[in-house]
Formats: sequence, C-alpha cells, structure tokens
Amino acid sequence: MKISALARSLHSSPTLSLSAKARAMKARGIDVIALSAGELDFSPPDVVVEAAEKSIEAGNIKYTAAIGMPKLRESVAKRYSQKYSASIDAQNIAITVGAKQALANTLLALIEPGDEVIIPAPYWVSYPEMVELARGKAVFVETTAGKNFHLEPEKFENAISEKTRILMLNSPSNPTGAVYSESELTEIFEIAKRHNIIILADEIYEDLILDGEFFSFLQFHENIFDNVVVISGISKTFAMTGWRIGWAIAAPELISALGRIQGHQTSNSCTISQYAAIAALEKANDFAPKIVREIRKRRDVAIEMLSQIPGFKPVKPAGAFYIFCDVKDALGKKFSSSAKLSEFLLENAHVAAVPGEAFGIEGYLRISIAASMKNIAEAITRIKNTI
Ligand SMILES: Cc1ncc(COP(=O)(O)O)c(C=O)c1O
Repeated sequence: MKISALARSLHSSPTLSLSAKARAMKARGIDVIALSAGELDFSPPDVVVEAAEKSIEAGNIKYTAAIGMPKLRESVAKRYSQKYSASIDAQNIAITVGAKQALANTLLALIEPGDEVIIPAPYWVSYPEMVELARGKAVFVETTAGKNFHLEPEKFENAISEKTRILMLNSPSNPTGAVYSESELTEIFEIAKRHNIIILADEIYEDLILDGEFFSFLQFHENIFDNVVVISGISKTFAMTGWRIGWAIAAPELISALGRIQGHQTSNSCTISQYAAIAALEKANDFAPKIVREIRKRRDVAIEMLSQIPGFKPVKPAGAFYIFCDVKDALGKKFSSSAKLSEFLLENAHVAAVPGEAFGIEGYLRISIAASMKNIAEAITRIKNTI
C-alpha cells in the first residue's frame, strides 16, 4: 500500500514511543520506572467520576454539537472571564479532543500551504509535526539556558518574514518549565501586532505554577482575539489526560471554522467527558493547588538529587512538571548524544527519560516528575549508579 508523502514525513511522537517501549519492558517483567510521560500520576477529583457515571445513568450519551455542549462552553467562558476579568463568552470557546486537537485544528484553520510558523526551541514534540500536517513551514528560533529558555523578543522579530503567520508560544513550557512574565509577553505581543502575526498561546499548564506568577494572554483584554488564540484544557489542571477535553479561546469566526473542521473530522469530543469536565470546572477548583504543592516537593527533591550526578545540571522549572537537565558534561566519550544516553539508561538503569533531540535541542534529558516521590528518588539513584 502506498502511504502518502505527508504521512511518511511525520515522525511518531518520541515521548509516546519511549513510554510504549517502557510499557513493553514492564510487560516482560522488567521493573522500569518511566519518567517519560506528560501524564500526572494523581487520580482525578471524585466529582468528575461521579458526573461521568451520572451522565451514563441518565442516558446523556449521544452526539453533542461538534463544537461542544453549550453548558461546557459556558463553563469554560465563565472560568476565564472571572479569573481574568475578561470579556469572554461561549461563542469564544471551541471544545476539542484534548488541547492537542485545538492546536492542530487552529493551524489548519489559519495557515495556507507554505506559510511560516515560528516555534521557539526547545519545543513540545508535536508542534513541528502539526505545522507539517497543516502544510505550513516551521521556523525554529533557538532559546538558551542562559535566558532560562525564554524567547528573546529581538530573536523573534529577526525570524519574521513576509510569510510568517503564527508564533506558537508555550507558557509554562514543556519541556523547560519556563514561565513568561507580563513584561516579556507584552513585548512579544507588541511585535506580533506590529507584524500582523497570530500568537497561538498554549497555556495547558496554566494552573501548575511552582514559582512566581502566571500571566495569560487573556489578561491583555483589549481586542485580544484580533491576534491571539489561547489553548488549554483539563488534562493537566485536573489530571484528566485520558478524558480528552481541551479548548480553544478565540474570535467567533475562528471558533466557527474550528467547528466546521471538527464536524468532518472527529465530531464532538466524548459526551461523557464533557459532562465530567463541567463538574471539574465548577466543583474541583481546590484540586490544582493541592497537586501543585506535591509537584513542588518532588521538584525540589529531584533537583537536589540530580545536581549530585557528575555532569548533570538540572534547570529549575517555574511551572509544569518536567525537569530539563543539561547532560552535556556527562556525555563525554561514552555517549555520542543524549539519545544514546537515554537508550543506555532505559536498557541498563531501567529508567525512561526523553532525550533533548525530541524537543529540538541536543545535550539534555527531560525528566518528568509526574511519578511518585519514591519512584523519582529510586530512578535518580539508579541513574547515578549506572552511568
Ligand atoms: C505543551 C503541551 N501542549 C498540549 C498538550 C496536549 O494536551 P492534551 O492532553 O489536552 O491534548 C500537551 C500534553 O502533553 C503539552 O505538553
């Protein structure tokens, strides 16, 4: 069977592949600790499960509008208009199959073949592939450890060409944990406005802030939807990855376009999950602060332990639940790349950690702390004793 050039050009998700490899080793009876997934180990709030059960019992299990149930769109709009005193209503909200679909379909809705999309590197693994799927061209702008992996406004402006349509910006960032300040975002926002560029702001980790304060593009208020699309969802805030609910917050004309695309693609996101999402948004606002306290403890222990491994320099994340660790000095002659180190650790220490190459940068490992404190400590001890 001849596979299309487009499908052939896509790489499979390195984080999902590594997790699958770790799962396969586990199935063979090997005691693998996976610090590779972007998935919290906590159970979701009880109210969520109750709401899902209730929706099944009540027979609320049919299709909904492609763009999402009006009640859920209203709940999402209410959440952000209250949180940021912003003027957002249901017509600014599209409910999607996870934040991933909101990002991918926004690109489909906004770019023409060959349009350029600026992506700061290191980036989340799916961004370049999503741009490819939308037949756009990814243009990478390097960020550096010296600047805490924040996009420098000057570098952003220098990367803009006639064809630039979109900047994808992720705060808090996966993989680096970088959280942008209000002044940084203001500068980036002004440049984008000046050049008529849309900012696709991925704020999926908005509620997982470990240090300092989070600033959302929605806080700019005025005419924000002329050149900003904000993406988020329930996967991280409520530890509800498998429920597959995300959203785009945008101008009504983009929301309608997303509805048309989704209507021919997946139809609505799971009806039962939509009921569960309403319960999460309305009744579980104490959940994220609780898990943030635990993630912060894990981060501090992990940073301390990783710093004691020769050649490992962990970057302290201000948000999300990953530690991006500089391992360049540990590679030496033994490992030709961080991918080789990651392979070695999986085979010999039975620890899965994603190499920097997956995120567009060599010489790093991303260590997810979405695992129990016991497993994190055991995994880092194994790494230390194996390399
Ligand atoms: C930066 C970033 N954006 C989006 C997503 C996708 O989230 P969802 O599970 O809601 O599709 C993830 C998931 O890991 C992520 O890390």
